[in-house]
Amino acid sequence: MTTSGTLGMFLLMLYSTTLPTSGLELLSEPAVSGGFVSTELNSTVSLTCVSEGTELEWLRNGHLIRVAEGNTQGTSRVCIWPVTHDDNAAIFTCQQKNDTSMNASVQLEVTYAPLNSVMEEVLVEETRELVMSCDVFANPPVSVLWEQHGAPIDLSESGFQMTNDGITSRLRLGKVARAKHQGLYSCVTTSPKYPTPNNKSFQVTVNDKTLQVQLDLIFPIIAGVVVIGLTTLLAVIARWKRITQCCKPAPNFDNSQ
Ligand SMILES: *[C@@H]1O[C@H](CO)[C@@H](O)[C@H](O)[C@H]1NC(C)=O
Ligand SMILES: *[C@@H]1O[C@H](CO)[C@@H](O)[C@H](O)[C@H]1NC(C)=O
Ligand SMILES: *[C@@H]1O[C@H](CO)[C@@H](O)[C@H](O)[C@H]1NC(C)=O
Ligand SMILES: *[C@@H]1O[C@H](CO)[C@@H](O)[C@H](O)[C@H]1NC(C)=O
Repeated sequence: MTTSGTLGMFLLMLYSTTLPTSGLELLSEPAVSGGFVSTELNSTVSLTCVSEGTELEWLRNGHLIRVAEGNTQGTSRVCIWPVTHDDNAAIFTCQQKNDTSMNASVQLEVTYAPLNSVMEEVLVEETRELVMSCDVFANPPVSVLWEQHGAPIDLSESGFQMTNDGITSRLRLGKVARAKHQGLYSCVTTSPKYPTPNNKSFQVTVNDKTLQVQLDLIFPIIAGVVVIGLTTLLAVIARWKRITQCCKPAPNFDNSQ
């Protein structure tokens, strides 16, 4: 056997999941491994089904896929492009149309890393709530570490609370104080799949309570105006009888009573 022949045999073994009893051969690019096709978000998966001249059809998670006329006889090919989050764990099946027991399947395994911007500016006012969030939506799941000034944040002592719903990780602090909390934070996600940690930084600037001061001044003014207004209104209502009486034309032009 020539070298290319050996390589060809090797590639055929690598790329196909042959079910001897099914009479079908399902080839995949990238290769099938243990019934799984591992791929990344936005990439392309090409599946080819080969039978002995019979009519073929495709299913995705048990639902028929439309393929072009002429793409069903003997050899049938489908492309999944772009691969999306929804394709993770999707099962693609090729089967003989007139005998569905002749079938072969592969399952997609889509890996994706969190998508984070590199740096975010955060402006917060003294004593207000500070919230920072970063994307942790990934397959396989990532572990998350929040850092302040380059050191891990001690959640038990710092007053920070962290939540993680598998899509977003949030770091929250009820009352921010410039002396303690202004500066650089980062959300570092580590994946067993992607070697370089994904690091999103936050430059937190704590401002004076400008808005708070204005509101503190404005609220008493509004309250004062409302009180004066209400008092006037009540006074007017109390005198309404007399005023209307004044304004009513006296029935007999005699106001002397
Ligand atoms: C996938 O493609 C979309 C649209 O073309 C793009 O916005 C997104 O950043 C891509 N994702 C990756 C992980 O390449
Ligand atoms: C299915 O069709 C092929 C030809 O297309 C034929 O050889 C085979 O016997 C058929 N099988 C059944 C179960 O009808
Ligand atoms: C696929 O084939 C297997 C046996 O090869 C059978 O048990 C199964 O029911 C078939 N699936 C369908 C949808 O017919
Ligand atoms: C994340 O980035 C910040 C700012 O660039 C840096 O100070 C910090 O050390 C980085 N952390 C890791 C784990 O790479």
